[in-house]
Amino acid sequence: MEINGLQRHYELASGVVRALDGIDINIEKGERIVLLGPSGSGKTTLLNCVAALDSPTGGSYSFDGEDVPRNKSEEMTTFRRKNIGYVFQFFNLLQDLTVLENILLIQELSGSRDKQRALDLLQLVGLEKEVDRFPAEISGGQQQRVAIARSLAKSPKLLLGDELTGNLDSKTSAMVMEVLVKACESEEITTIMVTHDENLSKYATRVIRLDSGKIVSDEKVNQ
Ligand SMILES: Nc1ncnc2c1ncn2[C@@H]1O[C@H](COP(=O)(O)OP(=O)(O)OP(=O)(O)O)[C@@H](O)[C@H]1O
Ligand SMILES: [Mg+2]
Repeated sequence: MEINGLQRHYELASGVVRALDGIDINIEKGERIVLLGPSGSGKTTLLNCVAALDSPTGGSYSFDGEDVPRNKSEEMTTFRRKNIGYVFQFFNLLQDLTVLENILLIQELSGSRDKQRALDLLQLVGLEKEVDRFPAEISGGQQQRVAIARSLAKSPKLLLGDELTGNLDSKTSAMVMEVLVKACESEEITTIMVTHDENLSKYATRVIRLDSGKIVSDEKVNQ
C-alpha cells in the first residue's frame, strides 16, 4: 500500500479542519501496524480513507498497484468488499442472526459463501460451541471474537480495527489480540489497528504515531 501526501480537510464555516495533513506511509504485505495518537489526531479518519469509507481531499493512495477509488460510492463499495475487513469498537453484529449466520451473510455480500471456512474461523477464535447462539446469548469478548471471525471470513487482504479491544477487559483483550495475530500470520493478512492502548504495541511489527493529522513517529518493532 502506498500513501503519499494524503490529506483530509473539512471546510467548516469556522475554518478548515486538517484531520489528515500530508500522510506518507508505504506498507508491505503482512505488516501488522498499530496506530496510536491522542483523541482527535486523525486515526479514524486515516483508517476510513484507507478502507475507502471516506474520500481524501488531497494526495494519493494506491493498493496492490492501483489507485483506490474516491468520491464514487459504488466503486468504493466494490473495493471494500474485495479487499477490506473492518472490525469496529461496537461489534455491529446483527442481533437477529446467529453467530454462524452473521458470518455467512458477510461472505454472501462479497460473493464467496463458504460454510466450512466460516466454521473453521469460528473454531480458530474458540467459538465452535457457540455457532448457533444469538449475539445476545454470548459475552462481549465472545461477540468481539465473532466480529473478528466475520472480518476474516471473506479473506480480506487488509484488516482494519478501530479500538477493537476498547470494550474488553485486559485478559479478554489479550486473548482477542492473540487470535487476531494468529489468523493474520497464517493468512498473510496486513493489519492496521487503531488504539489508545500502548500495550497493544507488543502485537505490532510497526508502530505509527499521529498528532494533529501528521505522522510524528514510524518505527519497526523487533519481535
Ligand atoms: N465530519 C467532520 N467535520 C469536521 N471535522 C471533523 C469531522 N470528522 C472528524 N473531524 C475532525 O478531524 C479530526 C480527526 O478526527 P478523528 O476522528 O480522525 O480523530 P481520532 O484520532 O480517531 O480521535 P479519537 O481517538 O477520539 O477517536 C478531529 O479534529 C475531528 O474533530
Ligand atoms: Mg477515532
